[in-house]
Amino acid sequence: MYKSVFRPGLLQGQIQVVTGGGSGIGRCVAHELAVLGAHVVLVGRQSAKLAAVQAEIAAAGGSASCEVCNIRVEAEVAALIGRIVVVHGRIHGLVNNAGGQFPSPLKDISLKGWEAVVQTNLTGGFLMARECLNQSMQKQGGAIVNIVADMWGSMPSMGHSGAARAGMVSFTETAALEWATYGVRVNAVAPGYIASSGMDSYPPEMRPVIRGMPKAVPLQRFGNEAEVAAAIVFLLSPAASFITGTTLRIDGGRPNGRVGMPMPPVLNPVPAFDGFHLAAEPKVLSSKGDD
Ligand code: ADE
Repeated sequence: MYKSVFRPGLLQGQIQVVTGGGSGIGRCVAHELAVLGAHVVLVGRQSAKLAAVQAEIAAAGGSASCEVCNIRVEAEVAALIGRIVVVHGRIHGLVNNAGGQFPSPLKDISLKGWEAVVQTNLTGGFLMARECLNQSMQKQGGAIVNIVADMWGSMPSMGHSGAARAGMVSFTETAALEWATYGVRVNAVAPGYIASSGMDSYPPEMRPVIRGMPKAVPLQRFGNEAEVAAAIVFLLSPAASFITGTTLRIDGGRPNGRVGMPMPPVLNPVPAFDGFHLAAEPKVLSSKGDD
């Protein structure tokens, strides 16, 4: 059973939409939303992955449904939100989590590659949020959480993603201002180095880089999916009712490190919050990940 820090029944009867709900942080937050009583609409491109998460949630006593949609395609997004509103009446929350990128120095990124990453990580999130607003939240209010990334300072070898995520932070701020009138709060969560299935999607030459990441983190460890999900659920919850337009970093302090300044040793490690009962170590961090 998911070990949420939030009150049982907190989201009872709510409709929460999670894009990228088939894996990683999206799968984890879907489980937490469901254990708190929400019906979760899992959105993604691969129906098998969504169905597997739906079955996991059902096995835990929760309620979820699946919607296949490419968030880059405007007509698909508009139709998706229309279907959800017809079936469920309204949408209480949106977790704009779907994303993805490929490592490459900026000088080698083609226009096609750049546009694909910007469409997935910026335009798709905008379309999802706009349709939720226009088809539901404008009338009944709601909360949106955009998942971005630790791109503060720079995002080397992921410049396209960093630019898109920085754009999403600005989108979050403008939407918070423009949509406050409708009772819609818009915030973002910026995960840093999170031990998640997404880490296994990078090519083998990235493995040493990934394994060395905690050295740049003041808390000297990876975060986990449940530590990100807790922040998302908080921002969706009534406890965050006066919070809008902010971006909450979940990164163990990574951007606070300074090149050339020694990282103080961690004398009292802050234990990880292991809330997700189905969490699995990514292969790249376990002995199963070859070099
Ligand atoms: N996850 C990653 N990319 C996606 C996309 N384009 N649509 C839906 N889910 C996604």
